[in-house]
This record gives sequence, structure tokens and C-alpha cells, in this order.
Amino acid sequence: MTVITTERLSETVGAEVVGVDLERLAHDAALAAWTLEALEAHGALVFRGLHADDAAQVAFSKRLGRVEVFGKGEHPEIFRVTLDPTKNRAAGYLKGTFDWHIDGMTEDVPIMATLLSAHAVAASGGDTEFASTYAAYDDFSDEERARYESIRVVHSFEAAQLMGNKSPTPEELARWRSRPAKEHPLVWTHGSGRRSVVLGATASHVVGMDPAESRAFLDDLLARATRPERVYRHTWEVGDMVIWDNRGVLHRARPYDATSARDMHRTTLYGDEAVQ
Ligand code: OGA
Ligand code: MN
Repeated sequence: MTVITTERLSETVGAEVVGVDLERLAHDAALAAWTLEALEAHGALVFRGLHADDAAQVAFSKRLGRVEVFGKGEHPEIFRVTLDPTKNRAAGYLKGTFDWHIDGMTEDVPIMATLLSAHAVAASGGDTEFASTYAAYDDFSDEERARYESIRVVHSFEAAQLMGNKSPTPEELARWRSRPAKEHPLVWTHGSGRRSVVLGATASHVVGMDPAESRAFLDDLLARATRPERVYRHTWEVGDMVIWDNRGVLHRARPYDATSARDMHRTTLYGDEAVQ
């Protein structure tokens, strides 16, 4: 078999995987371990023109880790990322994907990785952007590293939803608040020994800091982590599959129309590491 190679897509995040087709996705016994290693190294992996159907995506996801189950039906592991409420009842919440975020930050253990396969793309907009939170930490000065060590940040669903809907109804607010907030350290020291910064739309405030100062501090760190030269932007073609390492990247969708046909089939891998 030919050797699988990676080609970097930016200086700090993203690599294209070359040499994997559907046959290999299904049958190469070494591919899962290879993929997990490449994911840790690159943060996001792009498989162009793979055209994995749901069965192929779910089968491969199960070889990478424990896969979250959402619905019923033939492939209950598939969650459809679309703004079309006839395809996903939770479509209304997915505008939240337009802001930089890390998935599952209000859970005890954030998810490990996400796979998205493009089944339909937007006529305009709808790219997905990635930025490494390991690189964001590496960019800190020694003085900042020392100062940020003890900082703790409250993450909430409310903070994330408020970004796209500044004047919620009392019912909306109550629904958002029914999901408990979660406190995490600003700096995540992983089992691997690497450190990353935990930021994004769910970051509500720094514990014990004046609210305005806290907002400015978090906004500034996020802007630094996601400045253009730190970002890989993926422009989708039908059939592309992208996997990102949710422990070490921020991501967001660029806006696309609510009536767009854009339809991403997603599988989600549970994490096994709390933020600590
Ligand atoms: C997600 C997400 C981004 C996109 O599925 O968690 O943020 O581009 N998706 O659809
Ligand atoms: Mn997301």
C-alpha cells in the first residue's frame, strides 16, 4: 500500500491527509492509530473528496473512540449540522457555531474529537475555521504563563447563546440557564504534558475579576489565539471529511444563510480527560 502523507495547511493548525480512500478507510487496520497520532500533531485533519456515507463514517469513528449517540434510526450516531429545522430539530441553536468555540465546554469532560462530512455545501459562506489552543498557549510570554496559571473561567451555554441573540425572551433565557455552568482553569494541562488555553463563546467570566475587565481580558486572549495567521480556513466541497481535536483547537463556521442547503453529517467522540 502507498504511504499516507500529511501536508500542512497552515503554520500551527491543520493538515491534509493524502492517500486515504474509502477502501482504505474501511480496511486499513493501522489507520485508526495513525489518525489519532496525526490529530494530536496537527489539530485538524482534512480528507478531501472522501465521500464517506453515514455507515462508513460511523464505522471509522468507532475505531477512533467511543461515539456519542443522538437519535434513533439507522445511524443514531449521526448528528446533522444544518440550519434547516426539518433536518435537525435543534437547528435554532446551531447559529452558535458561528462564534469561536470549543465543543462541550459546559460538560465535565469535553468531547475528544469531531468528524464532519460534507453532504451539501452552502452557495456562499459556510467555511469552517480552526485555531490551535496549544499554539495560543505557546505564544504567551513567561510572565503571562505564570500569571495565568491560577486563573479560572466560568463557561456557560447562556454566554455562548447570548452572542447570537442579545435579547432573548424570558423563556429562552430560562432554557439556556437550565444547563449548569462549569468552571475550568484557563490553562489546560493535558495528560500528554502539553498545555492549551480554554477560551471561546462559552467563556462567560473570570472568577473574581471585575466583569468589564474580565470581558476585555477574555476577548483579547481570544483575538490573539485566532488572529488570521493562526487560522486554517476550510472551504468545503461535497465529500470532504474533516476531523478536529476538540482538546486543542477552537473552531467556528463562517456565516451561511438559514435557508442554505448546507448539510454536514457529524459524529462525536467522547473525551476521557477533564480540563485540569
Ligand atoms: C460543530 C461545529 C462548524 C461547522 O459541529 O460543532 O461547530 O462549520 N460546526 O458546521
Ligand atoms: Mn462546534
